[in-house]
Amino acid sequence: MIEQSKPNTKRLHMITWGCQMNVYDSGRMADVLAPLGYAPSDSAETADMVILNTCHIRDKAAEKVFSELGRLRLMKEARRLAGDRMILAVAGCVAQAEGAEILARAPYVDIVLGPQTYHRLPEMIAQASRAAGAVIDTDFPAEEKFDFLPDAVAPQGLTAFLTIQEGCDKFCSFCVVPYTRGAESSRSQVAVLAEARRLVAQGTQEITLLGQNVNAWHGIDEHGVPSSLGRLARALARIPGLTRIRYTTSHPRDMDADLIAAHAEVPELMPFLHLPVQSGSDRILAAMNRRHTGAEYRDLVARLRQVRPDLALSSDFIVGHPGETEQDFEDTLALVRDIGFASAFSFKYSPRPGTPAAGSPGQVDEATKDRRLQTLQALLREQQTAFNVAKQGQVVPVLFTNPGRRAGQIGGRTPWLQPVHVQGPETLIGHIVPVFISLAHPNSLTGTLVEEHACV
Ligand code: SAH
Ligand code: SF4
Ligand code: F3S
Repeated sequence: MIEQSKPNTKRLHMITWGCQMNVYDSGRMADVLAPLGYAPSDSAETADMVILNTCHIRDKAAEKVFSELGRLRLMKEARRLAGDRMILAVAGCVAQAEGAEILARAPYVDIVLGPQTYHRLPEMIAQASRAAGAVIDTDFPAEEKFDFLPDAVAPQGLTAFLTIQEGCDKFCSFCVVPYTRGAESSRSQVAVLAEARRLVAQGTQEITLLGQNVNAWHGIDEHGVPSSLGRLARALARIPGLTRIRYTTSHPRDMDADLIAAHAEVPELMPFLHLPVQSGSDRILAAMNRRHTGAEYRDLVARLRQVRPDLALSSDFIVGHPGETEQDFEDTLALVRDIGFASAFSFKYSPRPGTPAAGSPGQVDEATKDRRLQTLQALLREQQTAFNVAKQGQVVPVLFTNPGRRAGQIGGRTPWLQPVHVQGPETLIGHIVPVFISLAHPNSLTGTLVEEHACV
């Protein structure tokens, strides 16, 4: 539990966009602010502090921030007229990339802070309360933020995120992450295991290890020697009560032999892997600076499936990267058909300021991007449905995590991350239970508890 030095007298409202690392970071910002008396609140109107944790990955994601700021401006003004103060902070990757522009476009913002400075938040609040002007902190400080964040982590529940690695050195042509999150850095194995043990002691059964490039993790072990994700998975699997381990997002180049072997040896490592390929065309993969070919990706997937035949894959795709021809796009469709994905995210290429691809010749027009995206998504949807339908008639282990939407229903996930609903007692929440899958839907499964099924 977090030691409260002050009672919960102030309300903190957070809005989080972007990847799971932002979700994790929002939790850690709440942890930092709890000792100052800030308690989470669902309402922005009555909040004493509002933090927007932002994403810069595509143009649309970044624009959402400015429209939300417009709405908050009115609330902040209403609070001021009532004699109250609302501190407005913008965190995350838009803050990092466009800190000065935020203050120019929205001067009523009090604090702008980049992803590496969350541990300094209390200091910034104190400064913002004293000063009339805004506080901006988008350094990549020499100290590691994780070493300065409080150890105590608020309980996350049965499933939890744990950031083990940040930043990226890959510099894909289209991507802002190396600029917004900085160079790759790994937390130590000791720190990761300690946090995992704390989560498990608070009731977590499933941990998803997070990193922009999670399988490039090389945190030092207890002897000061760089470790690897395969070793970390084995060490985590030894924590009693930790029943499921996942990790995301992986880069194909960093899937080493030991990590592949871990998938065969560690039953806690779930047979589902998010392994973005982005494109199936070797020309475009080279232009993207992905540093692998379509054949190398196919070979990697074959090696993974050899050791773990039930492994399911998901991926990210970009259509319309500069230079992408109809043939390149066909190559992407061919790769999708060859691999067969259980789920996927796909996006139209969005030029990001400061990235190499944004200035490249051969920009693809919007209509072509739209058409390619629709074609790709139709194929991916078909594959996702087929993957779900293949589970019909099978008995699969489901970790129940929550009450369902309808009365008497409970919900959970299969090892392949498919949501499952059954009629069943809430006492099963927190347990892994065999479920007979009776019906597949495009995005979820319906099942019956095996004991019940045996009775009918
Ligand atoms: N680290 C991960 C990806 C992080 S960003 C990886 O290496 O794959 C999540 C996804 O957003 C990417 O996989 C990519 O598909 C998409 N993305 C990133 N930049 C983009 C851009 N400029 N336009 C469209 N999609 C983009
Ligand atoms: Fe972005 Fe590429 Fe790094 Fe992924 S590997 S975060 S896509 S630069
Ligand atoms: Fe977005 Fe930053 Fe994550 S740009 S996807 S929030 S690393």
